[in-house]
Amino acid sequence: MKFFVDTADTGEIRDLAATGLLDGVTTNPSLILKSGRPMKDVIAEICDIVEGPVSAEVTATDADAMIAEGRALAEIADNIAVKLPLTLDGLKACRTLTDAGHMVNVTLCFSSNQALLAAKAGATFISPFIGRLDDINIDGMDLIREMRIIYDNYGFETEILAASIRTANHVRECALVGADVATVPPAVLKGLVKHPLTDKGLEQFLADWAKTGQSIL
Ligand code: E4P
Repeated sequence: MKFFVDTADTGEIRDLAATGLLDGVTTNPSLILKSGRPMKDVIAEICDIVEGPVSAEVTATDADAMIAEGRALAEIADNIAVKLPLTLDGLKACRTLTDAGHMVNVTLCFSSNQALLAAKAGATFISPFIGRLDDINIDGMDLIREMRIIYDNYGFETEILAASIRTANHVRECALVGADVATVPPAVLKGLVKHPLTDKGLEQFLADWAKTGQSIL
């Protein structure tokens, strides 16, 4: 499973890119607002840091304007994935932009039927929002499970990009059910490495090593 980070904070992105674990970045208008920076500047900086896909979202709502915005965003760098909402206009724009060779991430997916339409529109990525479904008492992971079956039934190449991830357990479950990508907030991504028995074991090994009085170098 690939890891994308869901943030427009370039400091966090640099830290995570340095680990070699980062495969891409997703942003949205709310994350751009939080960054407090002009969108084009921040997206260009992210594309310089990360080689993989960087999702940048359009804010128009009719297909022609979405296509124009998508083309403008795609000019920022070769690794831009144009992010489009899951509406009929969004799907129309998806077909046009993918036919022109651009990567497209169809976002705000909350049902398997929506996911089926996005795949038929040629989306590169589809973003089902797990946490926001959990928030309204619907199991977001059930959606990922269904989408995996449907995409495998028909051999769709659209990658399932699990989004709105809130916990380490969401990440684990995404890996178990076969999501292609998980886009994860920086704190959750960094938290995946933690285990108290790792800390305890390391502390013991270092204490015993110190008692040997040896050094490796
Ligand atoms: C995905 O691309 C979205 O940016 C994001 O995962 C939404 O997460 P939220 O529901 O925590 O805002």
